[in-house]
Amino acid sequence: MLFRIDQVCFPPGIAYSRAELRYYLQHQNSFSSIAETDAHRIAGFCIGQLHARADQCFGHIITIDVLPDARGQGVGRLLLNAIEARFRVNAAISVRLEVAVDNLGAQAFYREMGYGQAGKITNYYAGKLDALVLQKQLMGDG
Ligand SMILES: CC(C)(COP(=O)(O)OP(=O)(O)OC[C@H]1O[C@@H](n2cnc3c(N)ncnc32)[C@H](O)[C@@H]1OP(=O)(O)O)[C@@H](O)C(=O)NCCC(=O)NCCS
Repeated sequence: MLFRIDQVCFPPGIAYSRAELRYYLQHQNSFSSIAETDAHRIAGFCIGQLHARADQCFGHIITIDVLPDARGQGVGRLLLNAIEARFRVNAAISVRLEVAVDNLGAQAFYREMGYGQAGKITNYYAGKLDALVLQKQLMGDG
């Protein structure tokens, strides 16, 4: 089900394969949040992963997917807040993610959620589409 949602939310080349999605969902350092409608239909999900570097912990958003008919109702905000809360509980200093340069809607969403640009990766998606690296400070000076 999550695979089908990801296929709907992202174009080919950016959407994850089943194997990639399974890997991230099952990884021991991963957290997932899933949004359900009142009718128990999945409206969206978010996956985050914790990384340790030099005795410090950092969060990484792997993906956030809200089905088109559920967008604009605060679902994405709830999903991302839930993952950020898990990062905070694990003392993550900051959280990073990549977003395609042409995905202006998601960029606006992340800006609203407190993320700022920290870099750019050339040819990140399918070897031909650039990504912006966005970051949000969760605690301290990072
Ligand atoms: C990006 C995405 C997760 C947002 O989910 P959502 O449930 O629509 O977001 P929310 O309703 O919680 O929006 C929170 C705030 O973000 C902003 N926002 C969200 N989508 C926006 C858009 N397309 N354009 C401008 N602002 C937007 C709004 O300011 C909104 O605040 P408001 O409710 O006060 O208006 C959703 O559009 C999506 O799944 N897109 C396809 C997959 C994708 O691109 N994921 C991110 C890839 S890195």
